[in-house]
Amino acid sequence: MFRRKSLDTLTQHAPGHRLVRSLTWVHLVALGIGAIVGTGIFTLVGVGAERAGPAVLLSFMVAGLVCVCAALAYAEMATMMPAAGGAYTYSYVALGEIVAWVVGWCLILEYSLIVSTVAVGWSGYMVGFLTGMGINLPLAISAGPDAGGVINLPAVLITFLVAGLLIRGTKESATFNAVLVLIKLSALALFVFIAIRHFDVTNIEPFMPYGFFKSVGEDGVERGVMAAAAIVFFAYAGFDAVATAAEEAKNPDRDLAIGIVGSLLGCTTIYIIVSLAALGAMSYLALGNSAEPLALILRNIGQEKMAVVIAGAAVIALPTVLLAFLYGQSRIFFVMARDGLLPKQLASVNPKTGTPVAITLMTTVLVASLAGVARLDEIAALANAGTLMAFVAVGASLLVMRKREPNRVRRFRAPLVWVVGLGAMGGCLYLFFSLPTKTLMWFFIWSAIGLVVYALYGRKKSLLQQQ
Ligand code: ALA
Repeated sequence: MFRRKSLDTLTQHAPGHRLVRSLTWVHLVALGIGAIVGTGIFTLVGVGAERAGPAVLLSFMVAGLVCVCAALAYAEMATMMPAAGGAYTYSYVALGEIVAWVVGWCLILEYSLIVSTVAVGWSGYMVGFLTGMGINLPLAISAGPDAGGVINLPAVLITFLVAGLLIRGTKESATFNAVLVLIKLSALALFVFIAIRHFDVTNIEPFMPYGFFKSVGEDGVERGVMAAAAIVFFAYAGFDAVATAAEEAKNPDRDLAIGIVGSLLGCTTIYIIVSLAALGAMSYLALGNSAEPLALILRNIGQEKMAVVIAGAAVIALPTVLLAFLYGQSRIFFVMARDGLLPKQLASVNPKTGTPVAITLMTTVLVASLAGVARLDEIAALANAGTLMAFVAVGASLLVMRKREPNRVRRFRAPLVWVVGLGAMGGCLYLFFSLPTKTLMWFFIWSAIGLVVYALYGRKKSLLQQQ
């Protein structure tokens, strides 16, 4: 149960079970920003504002700081072990099989729920965009049951569309991704440019109406800067998607560190500027329930046309996030299956496309079904629970490997390693417990199921067990 993978054999695999090295650092930074900037800033900024008031700015800073620690730990681990699987693989080498399994199980939760959340967020802007063009979709097919509809059809369709792209092959998808990243960033810049001119100080007063720590309001909703930080943390998830691409990077040593740390620092800056512009332009009280808060703000300041432009850009560009996470998700399944912890058939690479087709399709059906019926803030919170736990394990892996293998080559070394390692672990744990209580309950149920699956399957079938 506590057996560990050896670092030396990490990148040796049987032919037919090896991914193609085709990504450069430009692809990786684009993959990073493509994965990071998405529903978190476009939609959850509204939920965050509802939970923290204008102090959601602080929530973004706190979550960003924790992520910087986690990113530094990730970068060191990724350059030390440039193999697919991210946090799962690092934990397998550093902490042993059972921890790796739990982390892999958390990553499955993270990746699939992020895809579903972003698909629902995309749908919000798509429906708004169509309305702006004079096309009104019936509510029954344009929203999930929580918003008065039956099924969120746009969310289901976009998931399948992105899966189709992914199956065609990694490189084509990554290049296409880079173009969409530019559109997404231009849309946010345009938003800031317009909204900042309507900045009104009274909108950001009182600055911290619900206090700093998580506390339950009269309506039963848990609020406060930290409660919001635990939600908007979602906006930062994605830099780990770069690490999961390690086995497909051309020059993993240098490029992964640039990809991970660079994309994260860029995104933190963008979020702080966008949320300042947003909160200054409209009262936070009106933002919480909007499916498209940035467009709502623009309409509110009389910029209807610009609202349609921003919505259109979101519609075109948010799929980059779906692309990155669906990619990450299928690769996590792939690596876990290759290790024998999940059925082997899942790990076969299609000879024509060089991608794991079967597993991509299976993942897509699952996440699309969820996107059709789930509620955005709830699935986002549960995705965060999985992400946060995986980051705790990466922080721990960093410290364990420094102790156990102090002399092994690391192309990237995290500075102030104890501050970074403990900062990542402590920060992520604190954010984890700041999540809504209901989310924590769901997370523990999910983990318990995972442990049963491991006891019944993975423990016996593990490749390390056969050796
Ligand atoms: N960070 C990604 C987003 O905000 C998951 O959509």
